[in-house]
Amino acid sequence: MEIVHYPDPVLRKKAAVVAEITDEVVARAREMLELMYEAQGVGLAAPQVGWSVQLCVVNQTPEKRANERVCINPVIVDTSGEEVCEEGCLSFPEVRGNISRATRLTCRFYDLDGERHEVVAEGLLARMFQHEIDHLNGRLIVDRMTPASRLAVRSRLKDLEREHGARRDRSLV
Ligand code: CO
Repeated sequence: MEIVHYPDPVLRKKAAVVAEITDEVVARAREMLELMYEAQGVGLAAPQVGWSVQLCVVNQTPEKRANERVCINPVIVDTSGEEVCEEGCLSFPEVRGNISRATRLTCRFYDLDGERHEVVAEGLLARMFQHEIDHLNGRLIVDRMTPASRLAVRSRLKDLEREHGARRDRSLV
């Protein structure tokens, strides 16, 4: 399992609902958590490892493993407030930009035991839920950035597009 980078087409697909929590789903979710910690991220969505399903992992305090969450079929049911903050994404190495997000929300999801959760989140965690659930709908940080940020990251995006093209060409030979 490895993290795929923009502009890999899997990042643009609408992810499928998880119909059943199989042993494979559990194993993959655990592998995603390890990959997230290894990459020093606070969140990772299944499409970012080439797995197009509605599942993401988050931990806003990676030094405290007790706070990690696996979110299956997550939905945001309520939002309020608005704040612009700088954001990055493990699928966009060396890209950061300002993005406006709700400051408070309620997120409903299932965990690996099939138990239903309803979490009221604020600040960073609220932002993380929005970011990861965007991934499950094929939405990426570049779609949400302020015009100034989008302009600032343009040449870096071109680099990533070239790298992706080169990798694809190599895999064809
Ligand atoms: Co991301």
